[in-house]
Amino acid sequence: MSERPRTVLVVDADPASRERLGDMLAPGYRSVRVGSGEAALQVLDREEVDLMLLDLHLPGISGLDVLRIVRENAPRTEVIGLSETRDLDLGIEAIRAGAYHYIEKGTDAITLRGILDHALERQDLNRQVTRLHAEVAEQHERPFIVGPSRPTRELVELARRVSPLPATVLILGESGTGKELLARLIHRTGGDPERPFVAVNLAAIPSELVESTLFGHERGAFTGAIRQQIGKFELANGGTLFLDEIGDLRMDLQAKLLRALQEDEIERVGGTHPILTSFRLIAATNLDLEKAVKDGRFRGDLYYRLNVIPMHMPPLRNRLEDLPELANFFLRRYTLKFHKRVRGIADSTLRLLASYWWPGNIRELENLVERLVAVSEKEWITDEDLPYEFHVAQAQSTAPASTNVLDAALSTFERNFLLRALDRNGWNVTATARALGLPLSTLKFKMDRLEIRELARRIRGH
Ligand SMILES: Nc1ncnc2c1ncn2[C@@H]1O[C@H](COP(=O)(O)OP(=O)(O)OP(=O)(O)O)[C@@H](O)[C@H]1O
Ligand SMILES: [Mg+2]
Repeated sequence: MSERPRTVLVVDADPASRERLGDMLAPGYRSVRVGSGEAALQVLDREEVDLMLLDLHLPGISGLDVLRIVRENAPRTEVIGLSETRDLDLGIEAIRAGAYHYIEKGTDAITLRGILDHALERQDLNRQVTRLHAEVAEQHERPFIVGPSRPTRELVELARRVSPLPATVLILGESGTGKELLARLIHRTGGDPERPFVAVNLAAIPSELVESTLFGHERGAFTGAIRQQIGKFELANGGTLFLDEIGDLRMDLQAKLLRALQEDEIERVGGTHPILTSFRLIAATNLDLEKAVKDGRFRGDLYYRLNVIPMHMPPLRNRLEDLPELANFFLRRYTLKFHKRVRGIADSTLRLLASYWWPGNIRELENLVERLVAVSEKEWITDEDLPYEFHVAQAQSTAPASTNVLDAALSTFERNFLLRALDRNGWNVTATARALGLPLSTLKFKMDRLEIRELARRIRGH
């Protein structure tokens, strides 16, 4: 329940009863008290009302009519119908018209408070369901764009072949390459789309909560376990469990995970009996797991259990042929979202984008296009709209004639050339210098001049 005080609108023609009801509310509830349906509708027009205690015998506009208007216009406000004496027919009619409950005005404070609490709980649940529906719709609306490049076509073909099998898939690839999107694609094409797809980002959960998040816990299993929680393993039953950033899992939890995967059954923390659960597992990481095993940071037995069908997401720089399609797809997404009239990205600008390094892969491309569309006031995105990294274009199109355009172009070429060489050599500067046949000091000097020293350091440290 959120912190803001809840507003209860008390509508009762009898002043004494109105005050009594208003005074009975629990702390944390704020009451607004009025004596007629007309006055109630004015309040509803003005402010957000969570709950309504509505006298069904009102002078003027009737209680049932007020109820119908509220249901039409303020669907989130829960209404509790009231009458002086018990009148079953009236109560049934009110509930049919959408009231949450019906009580007599003489109801005691404890009962009244209980009913209000329940009504609020239902309201919170309704909100959550609405939010989840929106999230699910958003996920469904996120198609996996298949560009023309060979690595992408091969990847999607492999996904199509493995999706009907219950085998574990391990998706490896740099950050932002679309690992989660691929996992959802495998899930969707694998069968009934209504089956659960449960995603867990292991890097985002504090390590002391990982176990109870995955396995669930019984009420009272540990301090703070105030109610039972169903774990993700159970929630994924019959569907797909997506464990993202698996490389970040602590060693002791790796052992527990392995045991659960081998036995097809789990036990909730504090639980007394094993629970059967069965799902397709898809794990993903941007770490080199094989190396992590060698370094003793990842359990070899878990690695072999996960590495049944490995799928490698190619970084964007290795499938630049896909870039125009992806960029145009994001352009359409954000022109719709921001109500803009941008029609496209100029060809020369697409070529410039293809010469960039893309350390953040497709996510970086999406973010860039989002920013470009958000600030654009033109029909076409052109070279000068691109930020500094793509600056050679700027030099060509906007700089005064005296700027040495050739030098700027050479710098860009050199920068991209060095970045590619660094990547091939695992971002090791000494190895790169050797591979290029350059003295180390020359390479370092060039990296400083081209401002890629910091970038290289960041990628290496990743
Ligand atoms: N083929 C694609 N088609 C459309 N959008 C894509 C594609 N690949 C990635 N994206 C978009 O790029 C963003 C990053 O994708 P996703 O979250 O799947 O990557 P990730 O590999 O899981 O990244 P991280 O390692 O950072 O979690 C998302 O917004 C996703 O919608
Ligand atoms: Mg991810």
